[in-house]
Amino acid sequence: MSRRVYMDHSATTPVDPKVVEAMVPFFTEHYGNPNSLHGWGKEARSAMDRARGQVASLIGAEPKEIIFTGGGSEADNLAIKGAAWAMRDRGRHIITSAIEHHAVLDAFKWLGKNGFEVTVLPVDREGLVSPEDLRGAIRPDTTLVSIMFANNEIGTVQPIGELGGICRERGVLFHTDGVQAAGHMPLDVRSLPVDMLTMAAHKMYGPKGIGALYVRRGIKLTPLIHGGGQEFGLRSGTENVPLVVGFGMAAEMAAERLSKGEHEREAQLRDRLIEGVLSSVEDSFVTGSRTHRLPFHASFCIPRVEGEAMVLRLDFAGVAASSGSACTSGSLDPSHVLLSIGLPHELAHGSLRLTLGKDTTQEDVDHVLSVLPPIIKTLRDMSPYKKA
Ligand SMILES: Cc1ncc(COP(=O)(O)O)c(C=O)c1O
Repeated sequence: MSRRVYMDHSATTPVDPKVVEAMVPFFTEHYGNPNSLHGWGKEARSAMDRARGQVASLIGAEPKEIIFTGGGSEADNLAIKGAAWAMRDRGRHIITSAIEHHAVLDAFKWLGKNGFEVTVLPVDREGLVSPEDLRGAIRPDTTLVSIMFANNEIGTVQPIGELGGICRERGVLFHTDGVQAAGHMPLDVRSLPVDMLTMAAHKMYGPKGIGALYVRRGIKLTPLIHGGGQEFGLRSGTENVPLVVGFGMAAEMAAERLSKGEHEREAQLRDRLIEGVLSSVEDSFVTGSRTHRLPFHASFCIPRVEGEAMVLRLDFAGVAASSGSACTSGSLDPSHVLLSIGLPHELAHGSLRLTLGKDTTQEDVDHVLSVLPPIIKTLRDMSPYKKA
């Protein structure tokens, strides 16, 4: 069979077999409700406690600071709507950045339509938020700032310590969407001025449909889901024990990989991939920052080619990639992230994202480097856009 290479780990990761193995008994034998008082319930409760500890220790948090949610989007919504609402009597001005995931941007938009004033900070050509811009935007009635740890489309890692430090100085809550960063680069909330941080299991070899919000002790949020009072009153509903257990195992394994320097191995492969693409594809350039970048993330702009066409041809050649210009709602608008870093529409349409994982080898990278240039050549030969 011809070689197949999965290079779309930013979209989702395969569930590690050990994670599946850890989850299965909680579907079959240990099916108790963790809120029940009998042995079955106690078994489920202690598995949840263990998983909460595993997720907490990945980011240096206390177990009680971890709230399990139904994924990254829900955790973002809980942080943003929950904090803005809880502090609405103190102020109604909230701040975010132009390149956030829609789970954040649309939560802000919704609040903007419901009595809050929203400031959206611009980013520079590398996708970085300026600490000075943030400092200048904070007002006496600002209650919350949300700026992502690392961007899913262009891989840029923000100066989170500095941005969070400004918020702390000014007494403003700071949330960061850490979905792309957690488990992939060292990250410790004991040394970072971060009040809330979002994670999603399926980006770190865990199952889909489970995420977590780190909420620093003492911070009050208004829940989105009311009911039985589970998750410290912040997310009612009977807990999804198998997914929680899977997330715990995935987090523990991610911590182990980080301690062994897996992120450094991936960064070397990423750089080989970036250098290889830049040297073999004429006029291509990297989107996002070269230096402040997720270790597993490579993203490019390939002028005079449509992103979707590249992705389809790569798929045919056995390579899973993605393009930032992929439409999310049927429109063909290029991504808000690429436009925000200043790419004109025609260039934003030629974006290509290749994201590596723990099982990616040098041979995989070299395979991509062997199939990509001829694909680009074919597409350019067919393209109505010729080099000026
Ligand atoms: C940066 C970022 N935030 C949030 C999300 C949403 O996470 P989920 O798919 O678990 O809801 C994603 C998923 O792609 C993401 O990349």
